Amino acid sequence: MKRKISVIGAGNVGASLALYLAEANLADVILVDIVEGIPQGKALDLSQAGPVRGYNSRITGTNDYKGISGSDMVIVTAGLPRKPGMSREDLLSANADIVGKVADEIKSKAPNSFVLVVSNPLDIMTYHAFKKTGFPAKRVFGQAGVLDSVRFRTFVAMELGVAFSDTQAMVLGGHGDTMVPMPRYSTVSGVPITELLPKEKIEAISARTRDGGAEIVKLLKTGSAYYAPAAATAEMAKAVFLDEKKLLPASAYVSGQYGLSDLYIGVPVILGAGGVEKVVELKLEKEEKEALAKSAATYKEMLKFLGY
Ligand code: NAI
Ligand code: 2OP
Repeated sequence: MKRKISVIGAGNVGASLALYLAEANLADVILVDIVEGIPQGKALDLSQAGPVRGYNSRITGTNDYKGISGSDMVIVTAGLPRKPGMSREDLLSANADIVGKVADEIKSKAPNSFVLVVSNPLDIMTYHAFKKTGFPAKRVFGQAGVLDSVRFRTFVAMELGVAFSDTQAMVLGGHGDTMVPMPRYSTVSGVPITELLPKEKIEAISARTRDGGAEIVKLLKTGSAYYAPAAATAEMAKAVFLDEKKLLPASAYVSGQYGLSDLYIGVPVILGAGGVEKVVELKLEKEEKEALAKSAATYKEMLKFLGY
């Protein structure tokens, strides 16, 4: 039987994601949105690209949550994107309301699904979806670290003039100002970038990565990034459905790892058919540990805003 992935939110991230999922021939894709005509129109348009792009996934659009019934995975991209001048708290309460309602629908209609959250503020929305669905933590995870690390990789490749595909990077912590790029664990074909770039360049790349989302918001003016976020999210879905056992950074539930508990935060995980099969504990240096603890403390504070 063909797998089914539901993508909630047929906006910029959701529609780009549907395309990447179809191109990977991973599953049939259901696009759900509250705006009438948008998911249907985008699904039809995407379907018509299939014959030329060579995919056979069926893409359907609907405004009815019944469409997600029996999904193997539900990917949540519904919500407002950050706009210039919008505070984090503004986005937090608006999106918590949306993600909470979406989680209720998932719980009743797709009780055995994996839930992959993309909506921002990411680590908070993932925790909220975890609590609202009541699903096991290994089945609920968030995408941000793959995006943040591909941004880091892109900047390294641009700086060194090397192939994008030869770069690797690790970024820990929350998806925001407190994220923790890890140059020691970032390489070009296995060579640590600390051997290839001076300290000041690495610091500049880390800062640009941290501000990577805001840089694009400033340029676009009407919304936030979507091609790279969608590609990063499709990469995670692929890791689960192809049981790739990929080691990648994801927003995952911590229960003692890194000295943190009852929180979703960016950590390295093994992602495979079981979902988050393991949270990998890297040996951190004192400064890295402190930066991760600082990031975690910020998110604990934000969770209080939602009554957790
Ligand atoms: P968008 O505005 O283009 O699309 C959002 C869609 O959600 C809209 O079509 C809207 O009608 C829909 N929506 C709102 N409430 C809904 C509901 N209850 N059910 C179904 N659909 C609903 O925004 P975009 O650019 O696609 O971003 C979506 C979210 O993803 C934002 O919160 C954004 O901040 C976040 N994001 C997260 C990233 C990450 O790495 N975690 C990266 C990029 C964006
Ligand atoms: C990004 O990092 C806004 O989270 C979004 O592009």
